[in-house]
Amino acid sequence: MAIFVTGSTGYLGSYLVAGLVTGYRDTMNLLVRAKTEQEARERLWTSLQLHFDFPQFAEYLNTRVRVFRGDLTSERFGLSDDEYHALVDTTDSLIHCAASLNRKSEKQCLNVNLRGTLEVIQLARRAQNRNGLRRYSHVSTVAVAGITIPTRAPKNSASTWRISSCPT
Ligand SMILES: NC(=O)c1ccc[n+]([C@@H]2O[C@H](COP(=O)([O-])OP(=O)(O)OC[C@H]3O[C@@H](n4cnc5c(N)ncnc54)[C@H](OP(=O)(O)O)[C@@H]3O)[C@@H](O)[C@H]2O)c1
Repeated sequence: MAIFVTGSTGYLGSYLVAGLVTGYRDTMNLLVRAKTEQEARERLWTSLQLHFDFPQFAEYLNTRVRVFRGDLTSERFGLSDDEYHALVDTTDSLIHCAASLNRKSEKQCLNVNLRGTLEVIQLARRAQNRNGLRRYSHVSTVAVAGITIPTRAPKNSASTWRISSCPT
């Protein structure tokens, strides 16, 4: 069984995958955005070369990593039925750390961070029904709702704030 990871081509995800591959024996199901298998491998190498030399990377890729070329914003990540079933059948843990950090685009934040997360939860539920789930981990993001209006407490209010002011 494998750990499904989103965001492996990103900053945090590359550390996560490198740590999991070197520190544990589990295999990885990685969701990678790419048009071709070759592009997916190149994109992974670009992010993971920080952590491995190429022979090590190639060995992990051939023995412990399965790449699913898909996008969070598409239903079932845009995978074919066969691929999606293979993903459900082989996944028993999920770590969702992909996100769109472009807070200027509310549409992108909504589609990737909210709808994309719902797709990952759907996968988790299907994997739970199929195999039982060991773990679901979600890396949250401040970019979940797009633009936020900056707020600043009035100069003196910080000193008068009390825990009792919190709504219960
Ligand atoms: N970096 C930090 O210090 C830090 C600290 C606290 C929390 N976080 C949180 O950790 C998460 C990841 O941050 P990061 O710094 O690693 O961001 P990042 O470098 O921008 O990586 C984002 C990852 O998400 C993937 N992604 C974006 N849209 C996608 C989509 N539609 N379908 C599939 N994958 C998609 C990206 O894939 P592509 O390569 O294809 O774009 C990339 O792998 C965010 O939620 C962030 O808020 C980060």
